[in-house]
Amino acid sequence: MSAAKRIALVSGGNRGIGYEICRQLAKHGLFVVLTARDAAKGKAAVKALHQEGFELEFHRLDVTSCRSIRACVAAVAERRGRIDVLVNNAGILADLRGSRFLDSKLETYRDTLEANLFGPLQLAQAVIPVMKAHRYGRIVNLSSGLGQLSEMGAGTPAYRISKTALNALTRILSAEFKDNNILVNAMCPGWTRTGMGGESAPRTPEQAADTAQWLATLPDDGPSGGFFRDRKAISW
Ligand SMILES: NC(=O)c1ccc[n+]([C@@H]2O[C@H](COP(=O)([O-])OP(=O)(O)OC[C@H]3O[C@@H](n4cnc5c(N)ncnc54)[C@H](OP(=O)(O)O)[C@@H]3O)[C@@H](O)[C@H]2O)c1
Repeated sequence: MSAAKRIALVSGGNRGIGYEICRQLAKHGLFVVLTARDAAKGKAAVKALHQEGFELEFHRLDVTSCRSIRACVAAVAERRGRIDVLVNNAGILADLRGSRFLDSKLETYRDTLEANLFGPLQLAQAVIPVMKAHRYGRIVNLSSGLGQLSEMGAGTPAYRISKTALNALTRILSAEFKDNNILVNAMCPGWTRTGMGGESAPRTPEQAADTAQWLATLPDDGPSGGFFRDRKAISW
């Protein structure tokens, strides 16, 4: 099948890095399903990309809702017949700025894991059977250098733990589904100017999205089970 007909589902596509990933995948010739938890924001994002001449559609998706995940994946699979690419981009940084271990409440850990780990996990559970049926899949998990065990330090504990766990999920999925031509990788976009990254971040969403676009369109003999920044492997 040509890359032009591949279907990509991106979570949190209404703004920030997710929006730019949708843009770059559409530019690359994929049919993109831009998802967002807020329908008005998601539709506005799709409209802006249509005005740039890209082909894509909106579907509502809240990654903290099992029901929303199931409904979204079922609707896309039925309408489009397949889902070739899943980009787990949606995420939250719920730790208060500068927060240390004793500052963060259990609720913060739970909320963070719900969005940053259980969201991608449940999406993978729903999408992988569709990918397996077509013997093709690319899953890209938006992780963070803050989740690297090799660099682990103090601060933002809930966020760090959620991204380390997402990295573990990446390795498990890669090991289980590589033989089905489903390649699963994690990436760090770098510190990027978005709602989450803030104004002082040095990188643009365009720079951040490039590695996601690359991993989403890997050839069959491409890497799986890796952690990348700027298209280069980094330590776990
Ligand atoms: N920016 C950085 O410096 C940086 C660095 C390392 C890693 N990352 C990772 O890169 C990814 C994108 O980050 P970003 O900087 O673009 O963040 P952002 O500007 O805060 O955007 C986050 C996106 O996730 C969506 N989202 C949050 N909770 C959701 C939910 N329950 N269901 C569906 N969508 C949800 C948001 O939707 P709403 O608009 O509705 O809130 C928004 O579209 C995240 O996974 C983040 O952890 C970012």
